[in-house]
Amino acid sequence: MFKAEKFINEIIEEMRRKADGKAIMACSGGVDSTAAAVLVSRALGDRLLTIYVDNGLMRKGETEYVDRMLAELKVNHKIVDASDEFFEALIGVIDPEKKRKIIGERFIRVFEREAKAFGAEYLVQGTIAPDWIESGGGIRDTIKSHHNVGGLPEKMDVKIIEPLRDLYKDEVRKVARSLGIEVSERQPFPGPALAIRVLGEVTREAVELAREANAIVEEEIQGAVQRNEIQMPWQYFAVVLPVKSVGVQGDVRAYGRTIVIRAVESVDGMTANYVRIPHDVLERMSIRITNTLKDRINRVVYDITNKPPSTIEWE
Ligand code: XMP
Repeated sequence: MFKAEKFINEIIEEMRRKADGKAIMACSGGVDSTAAAVLVSRALGDRLLTIYVDNGLMRKGETEYVDRMLAELKVNHKIVDASDEFFEALIGVIDPEKKRKIIGERFIRVFEREAKAFGAEYLVQGTIAPDWIESGGGIRDTIKSHHNVGGLPEKMDVKIIEPLRDLYKDEVRKVARSLGIEVSERQPFPGPALAIRVLGEVTREAVELAREANAIVEEEIQGAVQRNEIQMPWQYFAVVLPVKSVGVQGDVRAYGRTIVIRAVESVDGMTANYVRIPHDVLERMSIRITNTLKDRINRVVYDITNKPPSTIEWE
């Protein structure tokens, strides 16, 4: 049986013994990197600097949320707004794997700049066991490159600290809960963020559509769960398609883009089934999305495919 308290005490002790200089890490606000940040921070104090890179692709309110959370957890951190750089690098790119690669590379550049300025000797990573197992480390094929593995700053002359490397997700959640991290119950969110929920070119305008639609889907699903209309899905989100279709606004013909709603049940993300969401809940989402994004979105559809044959995300 995995004991979170024991693990926490031992890993903090080990890091105190081994890491004698400054350390830097990136935190996305996800459960893995936040748990890693708190653990290392408990060991090194302000010798750890945690960087949150605002790439302009995050969920609504995410940057403010992470800033507040890290402050409450007393983790020494800095928010870096690099959104202009990311959007510039993504101009004209539509291939999903290229998007991932560009976002990963851009992220490394921003991060390297910060690490150099801080003079870090150690690099902390929130890698967990499924990250390196799924990323084609052994006999597996890389289905999608996960940017937090293999996307490391190779040139950086630093030693790596990976406090969660041997843990599985449920163990990380136990550790997070024990550290008082509220993110421990959040749904998974992909590293490349909303860029892979905008099919086609990733522009500020398209990301804004994805951001609003994702916020509405999240609110409505969470509301439906609270009212006992559905069970909490494993993952639920919105995808913006480049496909335009004809609609009508008042008496006027409109020509807007399409939003896909996706909600899946899964245990580990390797396989998934779509959730049978009641039509009332779907309709509320559809009405709110088309009202909020008037003239830009005039069609909302629900994805009824399982994984396999599809994947959970659309890219
Ligand atoms: P797929 O779409 O492959 O996703 O069925 C399985 C799970 O992984 C998440 N995902 C990612 N996570 N970087 C990540 O950190 C990525 O590039 C990435 N792509 C997919 C996805 O949200 C789902 O939970």
